[in-house]
Amino acid sequence: MSEVLFEITKENLETGLRGYPVGYCTTSYVDPEKGLYYVGTRVSELTHHEPLEVVYLLMHGRQGSKEEVRAFERDLTLRSALSDDLLAAINHLPRKGHPMKLFSAALLLCGMMEGRGDYREDCLDLIAKVPHIAAAVINRHAGWGSTPKPNPELGYMENFVQLLNLKPKVDRIKLVQVLKLFNILHYDHGGGNLSTFVGKAIASGLEDMYGSIAGAMCALEGPRHGRANQDCLHFVQTVLQEVGESASEAAVEALLRSRLASNQLIFGFGHAVLRVEDPRATSFYDFLKAHYPDHPYTHIALLLRAVGPKVLKENPKISDPYPNVDAVSGSLLFAAGFTHPEYFTLLFGMSRCIGIARQIVYERNEARGGKGCPIVRPKYFYKAP
Ligand code: MLT
Repeated sequence: MSEVLFEITKENLETGLRGYPVGYCTTSYVDPEKGLYYVGTRVSELTHHEPLEVVYLLMHGRQGSKEEVRAFERDLTLRSALSDDLLAAINHLPRKGHPMKLFSAALLLCGMMEGRGDYREDCLDLIAKVPHIAAAVINRHAGWGSTPKPNPELGYMENFVQLLNLKPKVDRIKLVQVLKLFNILHYDHGGGNLSTFVGKAIASGLEDMYGSIAGAMCALEGPRHGRANQDCLHFVQTVLQEVGESASEAAVEALLRSRLASNQLIFGFGHAVLRVEDPRATSFYDFLKAHYPDHPYTHIALLLRAVGPKVLKENPKISDPYPNVDAVSGSLLFAAGFTHPEYFTLLFGMSRCIGIARQIVYERNEARGGKGCPIVRPKYFYKAP
């Protein structure tokens, strides 16, 4: 008799598949009490690595030696070039709408113009090309002029930052450090987060890698998923405006209580799986405190971290009253000089598409002894309108 993993009752219907086991994820796992693990290693133990060392881990299921990672980097460099035609097409995208829409469109264009129709090859190409695609999209959307020539040998995030036509007053060395942390912490979050699930579902119909990732990025754009980082920064700004730079815990507590009393949203708390502070948020708080202790957003983010759980715990219906990754990631990006919240979700997407692409390779080429998973086709009961 096979093991029963999950009993489905009527109460489980129309709950967003919450907790339903669907399959296996070989890259990462989210423990409700301990948070995110990449291939068995707690993500907090990987934050001091170089981004491509962590990508190597996700791709190969083990950490690489120095030589192996160097060889991996060289291979990615060879795969990284974008054709002039693709760059021209990105530079003709309409600038109206959220930048994530341009990012999804650019990924589709990349698939049409440079896709190979092989999941594993396209996964590696995508990892190599995505910093340039993301930078070209941001420069286009922001009207920052043409994107400089890439130089992947500088390093994965170093290259991305030099591709952005940011104002020169930004401390680029510090920004690279922050973006490395941001990139690493957003690669993957188990198999069932919305964008990953959607990307794998699209690929299950044998849509190619780029189309599947473009669809996943549309899923990520939603404010309940990736766009929450943009909204959370806005919330921190609103709180700062209302309570001022030298606010006390009591003032923030009063503000949260009054928002709750008037049915207004409180951003940056709670997660579908986690039942503790998101360890990705903990890493961001630590960095913020160490590097930007006097920034006004640091002060507000820390006050919200202290007061939010206390207030939210009073409501027994709230199963996770703790800060999530989005509570603080935007404050850190902003403090580091990336003062453009409309691109925060794109930074999330540039990172997350790596985990999704790797999971698609697993589901298409490796799962079930190499046969791959079948097309996604869940059951819906008929209900008369
Ligand atoms: C994520 O990183 O994808 C978010 O925390 C959402 C999730 O895991 O469901």
